[in-house]
Amino acid sequence: MSTFQWQDSYSVGIDAIDAQHKILIDLIDNLGKVESGNGDLRDVMDKLDWYVRKHFSLEESMMRDGNYPDLEAHMAEHRDFEKWLASAQSHMATGGLDMGILANTINDHLQEWLQHHILVVDMNYKGKLGG
Ligand SMILES: [Fe+2]
Repeated sequence: MSTFQWQDSYSVGIDAIDAQHKILIDLIDNLGKVESGNGDLRDVMDKLDWYVRKHFSLEESMMRDGNYPDLEAHMAEHRDFEKWLASAQSHMATGGLDMGILANTINDHLQEWLQHHILVVDMNYKGKLGG
């Protein structure tokens, strides 16, 4: 089980976004607990699905308000992520899979995705949105 924790290098300089990224990291970190038999994968994924949409919506409205030039490309990354999440959820619904192993696969993918998304894609708007 690998843990996922906030680091100062993740800060995009906007408190509201940093606060939401911290919550997303905690939600993803809960997958590690499912891997070791604590918690329900569906429950963790439902919360993550709900929160990520709320987060994307804030980020997108801030980028729109700030006339951010890469808005379209950034939004496309968000939509791809939502599609990935939906497909992971439909795999879970299929049943017959070991929830610990599934949680491990999802955890690895989400840690890698969010880390890259924050450090590369989100970091691009740092200092440009008036936060
Ligand atoms: Fe983003």
